[in-house]
Amino acid sequence: MDYLEISVTVWTDEAERAAGVLLGAGFAGVVMGEQRFDDLAEPWIEEPGRPAGPMPERPAEVTLRVYEARTEAPPAVDDASSSPEAEVETVARIRGALGGLGHRISTRVIAEESWAESWKRFWDVQHVGDHLVIKPSWKEYTASAGDLVIELDPKQAFGTGTHATTRLCLQALERLVRPGDGVFDVGCGSGILAIAAVRLQAGRAAGVDTDPVAVAAARENADHNGVADRLDFAVGTASNLAGRADIVVANILAEILIELAADLAALAGRDLILSGIIDRKAPEVRAAFAAQGLALAEELREDGWVAQHFRRA
Ligand SMILES: C[S@@+](CC[C@H](N)C(=O)[O-])C[C@H]1O[C@@H](n2cnc3c(N)ncnc32)[C@H](O)[C@@H]1O
Repeated sequence: MDYLEISVTVWTDEAERAAGVLLGAGFAGVVMGEQRFDDLAEPWIEEPGRPAGPMPERPAEVTLRVYEARTEAPPAVDDASSSPEAEVETVARIRGALGGLGHRISTRVIAEESWAESWKRFWDVQHVGDHLVIKPSWKEYTASAGDLVIELDPKQAFGTGTHATTRLCLQALERLVRPGDGVFDVGCGSGILAIAAVRLQAGRAAGVDTDPVAVAAARENADHNGVADRLDFAVGTASNLAGRADIVVANILAEILIELAADLAALAGRDLILSGIIDRKAPEVRAAFAAQGLALAEELREDGWVAQHFRRA
């Protein structure tokens, strides 16, 4: 099967809103690409809607990517999903949903085989916190004493450990997991956080994700790391989890975290780690969870992203 990749370039401060719109438009996941720093050698080009003035010092734009599966068969006359017209329609639908957001939209078709390859080019062994090592399954790595190596193939799911939002959660888990803890991972993606939690000696972890592709990848990764007997992954969201876990971790976007605030707070027995929050949204998320009776213990920051750790009093 081939995939249509639709890339939407937005200003950094609009990224989260645009990602929310794309999720709302029916895409199961949004890949938030590396932020592009403006090349200092290039003049700062004013674009419509941007204030005039000196070139900003912080990252200016970020590319969001969404994917749509195309049918395997060659395009048939009545097969709207694989025709060029369908691509035009998809772009028009996205443009309409985004309103004024996004100043560049482009598409390309990716064959399934090269899809996997494009991940592989950008992803190397990641060291996170004091002990965690996230190793792509196709890379060689010789573990040092004290390393907790997690071998991952995210397939099409989010969660390689390269994104700041994931790294902040991993750092928090490394400090907070106690032996035997129960953990819920809401928006599990590749399963990276739940797998890390059990490697950090949690007793069990359960992960949910609205994207079935992510859940399949998470299950495979759990198997591959030899921890499948302590992990459960299912399609769903916070309301599909029952009871309480010592630790709840959710790396989703601020808007979705706020929407899920009551459910997430109800699930958290001791610690709640929230991530995927762009800096300026942090107060809104903090307020939404304070209203659920949770006290903010700490905020962690990296690359304009914030993770919040709440502790039940
Ligand atoms: C930023 S990724 C995080 C993946 C992984 N946990 C990590 O930290 O790298 C967010 C994930 O949340 C999922 N998601 C989005 N909205 C959701 C919701 N309402 N409930 C559960 N999962 C959701 C997406 O499909 C995506 O896999």
